[in-house]
Formats: sequence, structure tokens, C-alpha cells
Amino acid sequence: MNTLPGQAKGTAHGKIILIGEHAVVYGEPAIAFPFNATPVEARINKTETQTMLSSSYYTGPLDEAPKSLTNIQTLLAKVKEDLDRPTDHLEITIDSRIPAERGMGSSAAVSTAFVRALFAYFDVPLDSDQLIRYVDISEKIAHGNPSGIDARVTSSDSPVFYKKGRTFESLAIDINGYLIAADTGVKGNTGQAVADVARLVEADPDQTMAVIKKIGQLTLQAREAIAHDRLAKLGELLTQAHTALRQLTVSSAELDHLVAAALRSGALGAKLTGGGRGGCMIALAQSEQQAKIISNTLMEQGAIGTWIHALGEDINE
Ligand code: MEV
Repeated sequence: MNTLPGQAKGTAHGKIILIGEHAVVYGEPAIAFPFNATPVEARINKTETQTMLSSSYYTGPLDEAPKSLTNIQTLLAKVKEDLDRPTDHLEITIDSRIPAERGMGSSAAVSTAFVRALFAYFDVPLDSDQLIRYVDISEKIAHGNPSGIDARVTSSDSPVFYKKGRTFESLAIDINGYLIAADTGVKGNTGQAVADVARLVEADPDQTMAVIKKIGQLTLQAREAIAHDRLAKLGELLTQAHTALRQLTVSSAELDHLVAAALRSGALGAKLTGGGRGGCMIALAQSEQQAKIISNTLMEQGAIGTWIHALGEDINE
């Protein structure tokens, strides 16, 4: 999207993994949806100075950015090479409402918005396969061995049913219920959590792969529950997935605490979402009123922020 000459912007949004995280790295399915309550916008302007970045985590010359922004530097170098265009005098601004390192797809969404803005700046069309290839490069830097789900969902307008390298289908989540997402306030570390699960697979392959397969089964059952509008069943499946994720060692005391608090206050199910070890959890509620009660409980119990999402509709709070 071009605005004025020498100026462009790109957008993306956060994501919530409903079920299937971690197992998706091993070829099991996962279900995730775009979370429009957490948008990202990248803007690029021409400048006379060297290429500069302005964002909530760093402002200054892009060349001197901290290690956590290596993915942005690498993406810029790759786009420069592929498009054969100069990238020395850009003023890059990234505005993100996705809490960083909380399992909401911040790194993939920032990369998506940035690549879209770059292609718009150079006035070159970008198709979704190309976009995903770029975001996958950046996700490998950020997370080591990503399944690719974050790259897909943060640029998608609809929920997805995803299997690494095989299936990427839109999935209608037309189920009558509400989802609450809550931020523990503790930074997660997806790269570390994914690496630790890999170590567990190596140390105890039978037991760990059984847990991973179990998560895959729960995801398939969740898809059925969604198709048949069985909210209570979906809730039970989410809670079982949380137990399995604990067995993979990717939960944390804060996540377990909020999951237990949500269940005590009437949630139909609850689990961590995303990489874990901190970050966010989700809970399922029957009505908006119940969702508000659960959301208040989660805030009283230490969450630093909550969002309520009407499933099957595009309503966020
Ligand atoms: C991170 O949002 C989801 C994980 O399954 C990692 C991945 O799929 O790349 C933990």
C-alpha cells in the first residue's frame, strides 16, 4: 500500500493458538486465529541519513540495533538482494500493540508488517507465498525451528488449521462462545521452549512423542467440537492440552496459576497459548458476562492485561 511518494506502510496482527502449539513443530495439526485486537503497523519513509529504526524496543541506526532485531536486519538485506534496490536511506517505524515475547506472534507479525511495507515502498507486488517465505527466514532467526504457523496466522484474515509443510486451511470458528486471553506479564521464550522440547524428544523419545501425538489428537477433536458447536467439549480439550503442555515442560508457575484461577471462576477450559514459559493463557466462557467475570478474576490473580474475543465474530475488547 503506497501512501505518499517515498512513503509506505504495511500491517499485520497478533495471533492466538487455540490448540496444538509445540506439537505442530513435529507435524501434528494446530488451530490458530488472527487476533485483530493486537495490530502492528510498519511505516517506511525516505530519509537523507543512514537507515534508522524507531520502535518501542529500540530507536537508532538499524546497523547498531540489538541482537533481538537481527531478523529485521536480515530481512532488509534479503529484500535488497532480491529486489536489487538501495536500502541505505530508510526511516523505518514500527508501531506494535502486541506484547513482545508473550506467545502472541509478535516477531512474525512485525516481520510481516515490515516486509509488506518494504514491498509497498519499492512498489513491487508481493504474493502471500513470497511473504511467508520471508517471514519464515526471520522466524528461523528468532525461534530456531519454527513450524511456520505464526508466519501464516499473523498475515491471515481467518482462523487456520495448520500442519507443517502440508495443510494450511481456513477454518471457520463459528462457535457460540467467548475466549479470554490473559498476559502473565512474564516474558516467554519460544526459542528456548522449542529447544527444550527437542531435548526432551531426544532424551525420552517414546514418552515425549506420545505426549506430542496426544496433543495432535486433542487438536483433531477440537476441530470436531468446533464443527458441531460443542463449546463445553472444546473447553475440556483445551484443559487436557494444558496438562500435556505441562508434561512437555513448557508451562510456568504463573501460567498454571492463571489456568487454575480461570477454571475456578467457571471457565469451560483453559490453557497456555503459544511458546509458553511465560506469556499468555486463554480460557473459554459460555457468555460475555461469564467472560468478564473470568477476566476480572485473572486480573485479580496477577494478569497484567486481558482481552475478550467473541468466537465466530470479529469482536475484540
Ligand atoms: C509458537 O507461537 C508456537 C510453537 O508451536 C512454535 C512453532 O510452532 O513454531 C511453540
